[in-house]
Parts: sequence; C-alpha cells; structure tokens
Amino acid sequence: MSAVEIRELVKSYGRNGPLILKSLNLSIRPGEFTVLVGPSGCGKTTLLRLIAGLEEVTAGEIRMHGKVVNDLPPAGRDIGMVFQDYALYPHMSVRQNLSFGLQQRDLPKAEIEARIAEAAGLLGLTEFLERKPAQLSGGQRQRVAIGRALVKRPKIFLFDEPLSNLDAQLRSRTRVEIADLHRRFKSTSIYVTHDQVEAMTLADQIVLMERGRIRQVGTPEQVYERPANRFVAGFIGTPGMNFLEGEVVESKEGATGFRFHGMGERSAQTIRFALGEAPRGMTQADGRAVIGLRAEKIMMAEPSRGDIVARVSLLEPHGHETHVLAEVAPGLTWTLRVTGRVSLSAGDLIGLRFKRNDVHWFAADEEGERIDFDFLPTPKREISPPSVTYH
Ligand SMILES: Nc1ncnc2c1ncn2[C@@H]1O[C@H](COP(=O)(O)OP(=O)(O)OP(=O)(O)O)[C@@H](O)[C@H]1O
Ligand SMILES: [Mg+2]
Repeated sequence: MSAVEIRELVKSYGRNGPLILKSLNLSIRPGEFTVLVGPSGCGKTTLLRLIAGLEEVTAGEIRMHGKVVNDLPPAGRDIGMVFQDYALYPHMSVRQNLSFGLQQRDLPKAEIEARIAEAAGLLGLTEFLERKPAQLSGGQRQRVAIGRALVKRPKIFLFDEPLSNLDAQLRSRTRVEIADLHRRFKSTSIYVTHDQVEAMTLADQIVLMERGRIRQVGTPEQVYERPANRFVAGFIGTPGMNFLEGEVVESKEGATGFRFHGMGERSAQTIRFALGEAPRGMTQADGRAVIGLRAEKIMMAEPSRGDIVARVSLLEPHGHETHVLAEVAPGLTWTLRVTGRVSLSAGDLIGLRFKRNDVHWFAADEEGERIDFDFLPTPKREISPPSVTYH
C-alpha cells in the first residue's frame, strides 16, 4: 500500500481562479524519499500544503496509508513539516520549540524529555537547548526546525526547501545529516528543492513539475539518462541538455539524415545516422524532430572532422573543468564540458563529435515527448576520441 497516493488532484485558489495543480497522479511508497523539483511557481509548495492539510483540495483525492484524508485537519495526518523559513517561535527556547507540538498531544513528560534529548543529540543541538532562536546561526535554526518535526515521530516528513538559506558548506553538511536521518528512521519523506545536487543525491524518486503538471517521475538515473521529454532533459543536469531542431530525411536503405541550418561555410548541415541509429518513420509526421546531447557526451575535433561545426562564443572556467559555449546554429548556443583548461578563443570554429547512441530524440512540438526506439549499433561507425584536441 502506498504511504501517499494522489489521484487526479486539482487545485485552484478562489472560485474561478487559474488551475495551479492540473490533475496530478503520484504514488509514494512507505519509507521512500521523494524529491519535488521544477521552476519557480510550478506548484511544489502548493502540493506540499495540500498533503499537509494546510490547503483545501479543489478536486481529486489524497490518500495516506489507504485512507482518504481530504477532509482531515493537519493534526490528524501524522506528518511533520519543515519550512524554508524555519517558522520557529522566537520567544521560546530551543527546548520549548521542540516540545511545543508534543505537549499539545498530551504525551507523558518523561517521554517528551527523552525525545528532545534524542533529537538534540542527533542534530548537535544539546548545548543550545536553553537558547532562543535569535541566538542561533541559520544552520542551527534550520536544525531546530528539523528537530521539531523529528520529535513528533511522524509517519511522513514534508520538507519545503529546508536548506536554501544556508551557505554552501553548511548546506552540504545538513544534506548529509538529512540523508542519515532518513536511513535511520526510514520515514516517508517528500522534499522540495531547487538544488540539483540535493535532488540527485537524496532522492529515491524525483518528481519533475512544470506549470502545475507532473512531467516525469523516476529515479535520479532515469530522469538523467532517459528524460521523458524536452522539459525534463533541459531541467535536469548542470548544464541542461543541448538541443537542436531539424528536418529528418530518410534514404531507401534506411539511413537517416538530420538537416539543420548551422554555422560555418555551408549553413545547411546534415548529421548522418546509419540504419538502426535513429528512429524510423519520422518523415511520416511533419518530418521535424529535436535531438539532444548531454554536454559531457560531446567531443571537440577539428572543424572538418566534426558532426557539427560550431563557433566558440564564451569560455567559463569552473576550476576542475571548463564549460565551452559554442554557437551551433545562429542564436543557438550549446554548452560543452572540457576537463581542465582549454586554449580556445571566442570566434574559433570547432568541430563537435558524438556517438549516435548518446543522441536523445524528441518531438518538435511544444510537449516535446521523448521518441524511443531500439538502437541497433553498427560497429563501423564507433567513434574513437578525436585525434586532435585543444589544450
Ligand atoms: N494563496 C494563493 N492564492 C492564489 N495563488 C496562489 C496562492 N498561493 C500560491 N499561488 C500561486 O500558485 C502557483 C504555484 O505556487 P507555489 O508556491 O506552489 O510554487 P512553487 O513551485 O513552490 O514555487 P517556488 O519554487 O517559487 O517556491 C503560483 O503561480 C502562485 O502564484
Ligand atoms: Mg515554493
């Protein structure tokens, strides 16, 4: 049985307000760590608040452990919520902040003391129990907010960007703590973040939302390696996937050409795919498609040896690697990742090479769904690393 089951969930504010959530379906297994990601305003917080019972459902159903909870108040749902802004009581000590929710539940005093001691120990807060929130650092306050959810021992944890106020170091330390807590308590967790590292490292399953819709649910590997559509492919990954729209032409023998207007001397370029290396039947639709390539799957070569000719527009040193931004078509920039430093300059022409197996295919329409097909490799086309590299 799912810990949380969401069916055809719809939310709008006010009677004729726009649809903020558009018929969501989602299933979360007990003990699973689910991460919600998506652009600002896509409905992540709204979804959490509906699950918590802080907002009313417009249509559809929320079930917890099999029971419909649509009309249950937050206190009846056995959840602990950690907000981005901590929402601590400023006039109470850390100890009082931690015990507040428990006193309301009429737990025995000794039990409350024991839970506070355990949570404080786990979160490194023991020495701060008598302090007020204002006397704590941001990271300590954040841990109090997590502790307050923890002492309730809820079946389900909801986190809304809990680490976004922390500096980079504290953020990664607290991320590890959250992962540890989850390993120990195995509570079902739903976690909203803008941080891809958090999403990829913490999640059992990632839910990608766009404008009130769920565009893919999958493991971190699935959403990275087999994105269901262009939105997911572009959103996941730093940088996101590189895209190129073009016209698909097929020969009688089954080879496919992907034509686009590129850079270089001949602006009309064609990327050749042998039989089995590209989806078939594309020309029966309108003949257009979008190909996608991850930055790390693209190799640089001399312009004459590339699958695509591109013009370097910017170099971004990241220390351990350099991002090379290059124009592959007028106004269309791709990002490549090169280990170490490169001696290229803006304006240089370079060739880009890639294995046909690394190409993702998407529909050219607005939905941009992934086009799946059985890739049949033709050994002679295997590409070895380019003979010329730039240093
Ligand atoms: N009380 C409200 N009344 C009307 N509209 C609202 C209300 N709360 C949120 N919205 C709208 O609902 C949409 C989704 O908001 P939500 O806060 O869920 O986004 P989010 O994905 O959490 O974004 P962010 O990443 O910026 O936190 C937004 O367009 C927002 O303006
Ligand atoms: Mg939000």
